[in-house]
Amino acid sequence: MSTFAYRNGILHAEDLPLDRLMDQVGTPAFVYSQTALESAYRRFAGALKEAGLNAQVCYAVKANPHLAVIRCFAELGAGADVVSEGELRRALAAGIPGEKIVFAGVGKSDAEMALGLASGILQFNVESREELRRLDSVARNQGKTAPVALRVNPDVDAKTHAKITTGKSENKFGIDFQDVPELLQLADALPGVRIEGLAVHIGSQITQLGPFEAAFQRIADLFTQLRDAGHDLKRLDAGGGLGIAYQGEGLPSVEDYAAVVRRTLGPLGVPLIFEPGRHLVGDAGILLSRVLFVKQGRSRRFVILDAAMNDLLRPALYDAWHEILPLREARPDTEQQACDVVGPVCESSDVFASGRVLPELGPGDGLAICAAGAYGATMSSTYNSRLPAPEVMVSGGSYSIIRTRPGHADLMAMEQLPEWS
Ligand code: LLP
Repeated sequence: MSTFAYRNGILHAEDLPLDRLMDQVGTPAFVYSQTALESAYRRFAGALKEAGLNAQVCYAVKANPHLAVIRCFAELGAGADVVSEGELRRALAAGIPGEKIVFAGVGKSDAEMALGLASGILQFNVESREELRRLDSVARNQGKTAPVALRVNPDVDAKTHAKITTGKSENKFGIDFQDVPELLQLADALPGVRIEGLAVHIGSQITQLGPFEAAFQRIADLFTQLRDAGHDLKRLDAGGGLGIAYQGEGLPSVEDYAAVVRRTLGPLGVPLIFEPGRHLVGDAGILLSRVLFVKQGRSRRFVILDAAMNDLLRPALYDAWHEILPLREARPDTEQQACDVVGPVCESSDVFASGRVLPELGPGDGLAICAAGAYGATMSSTYNSRLPAPEVMVSGGSYSIIRTRPGHADLMAMEQLPEWS
């Protein structure tokens, strides 16, 4: 049974009726299910283990960096994939030990490299010759040798949205295949770095196994070739990217994904790292919102919510489709109407759904915008001087506010007028 489901006509998060929660915490608000987080992690890690793989799951913190979310995975044995000082500090604060942390990202500052070294992280995923040289010098300044995996760009089309594809040669990510031997040679001459593995990540919200299979096979061949040439490669980082079914579409299961990994990367016989983000958190969260007005335009009917693109940017940025469920289940005979579900922000792109068929709604009615656990709160802003939505964790019939809604005074307190005014 889904974690967000109707019971007695009311949408629940686990055992908690969301209409009651809405009255208590206000809207908009992000609501996460701890059970859904735990079961997504267990199923992902379990499928890899079942496939006989030696795998470390390093949760991609960018998908949802809330400390409680990271902590939940830390307790289940997860490591972390971080891309900034902030994410590294969060992973450590949530209890993930340095030796399970991978520092990825195409542009790391000296300070970030230094903090990674001081934290004893597992590896830096290096994406360029320039970064390798810089890391060497930062590490030597600390009298250390930085463990490195070279992130290889396999030039494989992930067949996902253009804005979230990373593994094509025209993308800014990774090192070209043909440059890898030269970088390994360069690393031999740099005492501050030690290449311990390769890494690959081709994109996000990948809904077919073909692109994974192609990328993994290419990287496995390269790995073997380099090892045969005498390079001591110890690990392979297979990245993240496995999608979720935003629209109820049939997707490959984690078990199918694990079978592809086993077939392509298994024969290397080395420990593997995985960096799933969305797959672990996406379906575990919703954005709770209330209808402000229903406005009948000349040709369209607009349902205006109190949530907006500043809370959940994905529809505006990627034309992403998110299921929208009324908190009160519609009776089967209820008339349904096509409407545009929009937010109050002064932008024409502040649209959650266009021409969506929904039961009749009126002011005050609650709605859940589904699959908002990944790349939701973390991509939010205060545009239009709107307050950040609070975040709530549900477990069974209980809930806890894990991030409060700040007040306007809190946000203004971070600003000063110039001293000459
Ligand atoms: N590893 C690396 C190196 C990445 O760049 C990413 C995501 C991940 C792992 C995690 O990918 P996941 O398993 O979550 O697909 N904001 C976009 C998604 C951007 C993904 C960026 N990189 C969205 O809302 O769809």
